[in-house]
Amino acid sequence: MADVILLNGSPRENSNTLQVLNVCKEAIEANGLTAEIISLKDENIRSCIACGECGQIGACAIDDGLNEIIEKIRKADGFIPAAPVYFGTARGDIMSALQRIGFVSMQTDKFLSWMVGGPIAIARRGGQSLTLQEMTMFFPINNMIIAGSNYWNMVFAHAEGTAMEDEEGIATIKLFGENVAKLIQKIKD
Ligand SMILES: Cc1cc2nc3c(=O)[nH]c(=O)nc-3n(C[C@H](O)[C@H](O)[C@H](O)COP(=O)(O)O)c2cc1C
Repeated sequence: MADVILLNGSPRENSNTLQVLNVCKEAIEANGLTAEIISLKDENIRSCIACGECGQIGACAIDDGLNEIIEKIRKADGFIPAAPVYFGTARGDIMSALQRIGFVSMQTDKFLSWMVGGPIAIARRGGQSLTLQEMTMFFPINNMIIAGSNYWNMVFAHAEGTAMEDEEGIATIKLFGENVAKLIQKIKD
């Protein structure tokens, strides 16, 4: 069981999003908490079908692997979804995952309440701001706490495995990870 779950929304093997999440994970671990990165790369996440069954069964009715991820998030204190930008918005499957995770939380024990986190967006050139706004919508409606940094959580990168070249972006993510860990510990004190 990890203190913080980081969700990787990239389908690529040597993904920039994964590189950025590794930086975030290391910052969380350097500040005393455990963290696990879960990738959607090999999943086939469907969109919410609005069946409302989660309220009765305590989990999502769609059996595509997301419930296993939900159980890990349920036990954690922090949650950080990260997505590559596709056509100016978040890659589709991470939004499908967020909408289903949020609905299960709302309809059951509200496990997202008071979890600490925030979104991360990675793109070649444009669309990070809107993607961050799109993903940020998930946090306040689920009574979550968004950690800050000294810039928005965006990294510029295109070719696989080049995210570390954006030094300012990487520094922003390090501080964000550190803040997530510190906030969680303050809340638990
Ligand atoms: C279908 C598609 C759409 C994309 N749209 C955008 C875009 O709107 N803006 C942008 O700057 N980059 C765009 N990109 C580039 C990716 O965001 C960029 O390569 C990113 O680093 C991919 O992250 P990953 O390696 O974690 O998958 C797009 C890439 C794909 C495949």
